[in-house]
Amino acid sequence: MADRTSSETRTLSGDVLVDVRGLKVHFPIKRGVIFDRTVGHVYAVDGVDLQIRRGETYGLVGESGCGKSTLGRAILNLETPTEGTVSFDGEDIAGLTGETLRRKRQHMQMVFQDPMSSLDPRQSVESLLVEGMRAHGLDTDKAGTHARLRELLASVGLPPAALRKYPHEFSGGQRQRIGIARALSVGPDLIVADEPVSALDVSVQAQVLNLLEELQDELGLTYLVVAHDLAVVRHISDRIGVMYLGGIVEESEAGELYDLPLHPYTRALMSAVPVPDPVLEDTREQILLTGDLPSPSRPPSGCRFHTRCPWRQPTRCDEERPELRVVDVPGATEGHRVACHWVEGIASGEITRHEVAPELAEQSEVSTPAEDDSAFDPSMYQM
Ligand SMILES: Nc1ncnc2c1ncn2[C@@H]1O[C@H](COP(=O)(O)OP(=O)(O)OP(=O)(O)O)[C@@H](O)[C@H]1O
Ligand code: SF4
Ligand SMILES: [Mg+2]
Repeated sequence: MADRTSSETRTLSGDVLVDVRGLKVHFPIKRGVIFDRTVGHVYAVDGVDLQIRRGETYGLVGESGCGKSTLGRAILNLETPTEGTVSFDGEDIAGLTGETLRRKRQHMQMVFQDPMSSLDPRQSVESLLVEGMRAHGLDTDKAGTHARLRELLASVGLPPAALRKYPHEFSGGQRQRIGIARALSVGPDLIVADEPVSALDVSVQAQVLNLLEELQDELGLTYLVVAHDLAVVRHISDRIGVMYLGGIVEESEAGELYDLPLHPYTRALMSAVPVPDPVLEDTREQILLTGDLPSPSRPPSGCRFHTRCPWRQPTRCDEERPELRVVDVPGATEGHRVACHWVEGIASGEITRHEVAPELAEQSEVSTPAEDDSAFDPSMYQM
């Protein structure tokens, strides 16, 4: 099992709707008043292979600034890949333009974090919903449109009277329901939900997540759910990908990721999540990450996590970037992939943890204003 080739490890069985291969999205950093010079790049997404089966929910989790939203946007063709391909339903969407792109877009929609800023406050709910349908020529028959609007509202649990109201007249949870209805209005196959509940009160979060699940069952939707909160992705996902500095470092069935986290970064994330049982809380593994998240404009060489990894081994970790591969660890199933050279030895206990020298963590610094608030914050990973 340990010697599978990379092409074998990348192929997912089943009906694949979204197929991302070798995706890179680099943003140029420009400087200069007179001449717009490119002085570097932000390596927001830097080599991602990802496949999503039709009808499944893929959860993408990781620290702020690791590239989750950029990856989601690239899948919807809202960012142009620097390298690599994104195929949707078997077709490479990067090459699509004009009418062909517009028609493809009908099949993929986005639900945003903050419904208030994604819904025009001057438009009534009816106008917001019709707008999306009109863009795809779906509002030709007046009676049919009206029936469709009522059906959409009912599907997200809102009364028909909501059509005449404006976004500010609703609570946060209701506004997110409107955002979901708007995404559904064109009959998509894929919904990319970027932090769909993080702006909502905890009590409302579960209701919105349940709604997304019900709609998935009813309509056969495929979801990519982006979240920094492990509890949100655990609740809703079939599979989960953990992102670190532009790459996926671990991917597995949702339950297995929580029961058997293997990548040192995933183990650190999991260890920051409080456990309600006090005995378990005292005895379980605690991994405190040293050092800030390096800047995506100067990612560390080799394994991107080597500056903070308590299992880092000399030279190979610093020099060679590990591939996301199927691992030979007892209990790990075939769909469990990890980007770490030493994962087998770490799992068996052969390779043990050590202190991470702070000066090592600081070597890969480079501060940009964007990343100053992106340091590891365990409170962001509450269950
Ligand atoms: N249009 C852009 N131009 C330049 N840099 C960008 C652009 N969009 C994103 N970035 C940078 O790319 C990196 C990844 O950003 P992204 O928004 O994808 O992260 P994220 O994981 O979604 O973070 P968060 O959890 O805070 O939403 C960040 O350093 C960000 O500042
Ligand atoms: S490859 Fe090395 S630095 Fe990277 S996670 Fe594995 S042990 Fe840590
Ligand atoms: Mg984001």
